[in-house]
Amino acid sequence: MKPRILVVEDEEKLRRVIELQLMSAGFEVDQAGTAESALPRIDRADLILTDLRLPGMSGLEMLGLIQKQNTHAPVIVMTAFSSIETAVEAMKAGAIDFLPKPFSLDHLMNVVNKALEMRNLRDENRQLKEQLGRRYEFDNIIGRSPQMQDIFATILRVAPSRATVLLAGESGVGKDLIARAIHFHSPRAGKQMVKINCTSIPENLMESELFGYEKGAFTGANVSKPGKFEQADTGTVFLDEIGDVPGNIQVKLLRVLQEREFERLGSNRVMKTDVRVIAATNVDLRAALENGTFREDLYYRLNVVPLNIPPLRERKDDIPYLVEHFAKKFGGEISDDAMQRLVAYYWPGNVRELENVVERSILLAQGPRVEAADVRIDISERARPATSSDHFLPEGLTLDQFEQHLIKEALKRADGNKSQAARLLGLTRNALRYRLTAMGIE
Ligand SMILES: Nc1ncnc2c1ncn2[C@@H]1O[C@H](COP(=O)(O)OP(=O)(O)OP(=O)(O)O)[C@@H](O)[C@H]1O
Ligand SMILES: [Mg+2]
Repeated sequence: MKPRILVVEDEEKLRRVIELQLMSAGFEVDQAGTAESALPRIDRADLILTDLRLPGMSGLEMLGLIQKQNTHAPVIVMTAFSSIETAVEAMKAGAIDFLPKPFSLDHLMNVVNKALEMRNLRDENRQLKEQLGRRYEFDNIIGRSPQMQDIFATILRVAPSRATVLLAGESGVGKDLIARAIHFHSPRAGKQMVKINCTSIPENLMESELFGYEKGAFTGANVSKPGKFEQADTGTVFLDEIGDVPGNIQVKLLRVLQEREFERLGSNRVMKTDVRVIAATNVDLRAALENGTFREDLYYRLNVVPLNIPPLRERKDDIPYLVEHFAKKFGGEISDDAMQRLVAYYWPGNVRELENVVERSILLAQGPRVEAADVRIDISERARPATSSDHFLPEGLTLDQFEQHLIKEALKRADGNKSQAARLLGLTRNALRYRLTAMGIE
C-alpha cells in the first residue's frame, strides 16, 4: 500500500508543488491549509509534513496534540530558515525532522524517505516489544526473570488441584496478584475468592468473621451469620498475613485444613466446606515457629506448595518490563537515563513502590518524557520494618536505613573522599558508588 502523507501548508502554491512532487514519487497525498482542518485527518496519515506558521492554531500546537493522541505518524516541520529556534523547539516536542525553507525537492524527498524508514523501524521495534510483553506477562503479572518464569510455571501446575499454597515474600512483591492468578486458573474460577486480611480483623472478632455465628452467640448477635469459610464454599479462601493469626484461631484453621470442617460460633453443628486455601505472609514464618507464636502443625499444613516470591532487587531483569508496563498504564514515556536510575535503585517497597514512583514521575515530569531528573523516589514511602519485638537494629531503623546511615558516616569521616570511605566500609569504590546511586545520593 502506498504511504499516505498529509501536507499542512497555508501557502497554496507551495502546497501544490509539494503535493505534485510527492505524488510523482508514488505517495498518496492528503492536504490541508490549516491545523484545524488537518487534525481530523491525522489518523489516516503515515507521515505528516507541516508548516509551523499557520493561520489559527500553529504547527507547534498541532504537534503537541498529535503527540498526545499517540498516533504513530512521524511529523516533519517546515520552517523559514530565519526561525531555526522554532525548528529546534519542534524537534524537542517530538518532530522527527525539519525542513528549512526554501528547500529543494531533492532535500524534501530525502527527509521524507528517511522519516518513513525510521517509522518502519519504530513499528518493528514496537511489535517486537509487544511480542515480548505477551511472553513475559501472565494475567497482568509481569516477569521475565527466571525466578518469575518459574513462578508462572508453578501457578499453572498447582492451579488445577485443591492443594494449599503458601505465598511468602516481602510487602509489594505481588502476592495478591499471584493468589488471584492461581484462583482464576483453577476449576474454581467461576466461584468466589474470599480474601481475609488477618491483620485488620481484631482478635476477638476473628473467629466469628471466619466461621460465622449463630443468633445469640454473643451480645449483639441478633441474627445468625455465615462466615468467610461458608461464603467461599466451592471457591477459594485467601488468608493474607497469615502470620498474624492468633493461637486459638490457628487451631481452628488447622482443623479446616485437615478435616474441611468447622462450627459456627455458638453452635455445635459441624459444617463441611469445600474450599481451596491460599495463604500469604511477608514475614518469615520459620522465625515465628522458633519462638512459638506460630503452630508447627499448621505451618506444615499450609506449606504444601511453598511459593517464595523474591524481592525486586533480586530480579532486576524484571524492572524495565515493569516500568514499561506501568508507563503504559499511566500514559507516559520513560527516557533511557530515567530507566537506568530506576534499574539501579534497590526498591525496598518492591513492585508497589516502583508502580508509585513511575506514576508520580510521569505526573510531575517537566517535559513529555520522564528524564532521569524527573524520577521521584520518595524515601518516606519505604516498606515499614517487619514488626519484631527484639530489635537488633537500632530502634526504628530498617536495614536499608541503617546501611545508609553507615555510608553517610563513612563519607563524613573520609571528608567526602569516596575511595577512603569505601575502604572504611570494606567495599570497592565501585560497590560504594553503586550504593550511592541506588540511594539517590550523588
Ligand atoms: N509482577 C508484577 N507485575 C505487575 N504488577 C505487579 C507485579 N507485582 C506486583 N504488582 C503490583 O504491585 C502492587 C503490589 O502488589 P501486591 O498487592 O500483589 O503485593 P503483596 O505482595 O500482596 O504486598 P503486601 O504484602 O503489602 O500485601 C499491586 O498494584 C500489583 O498490581
Ligand atoms: Mg497483599
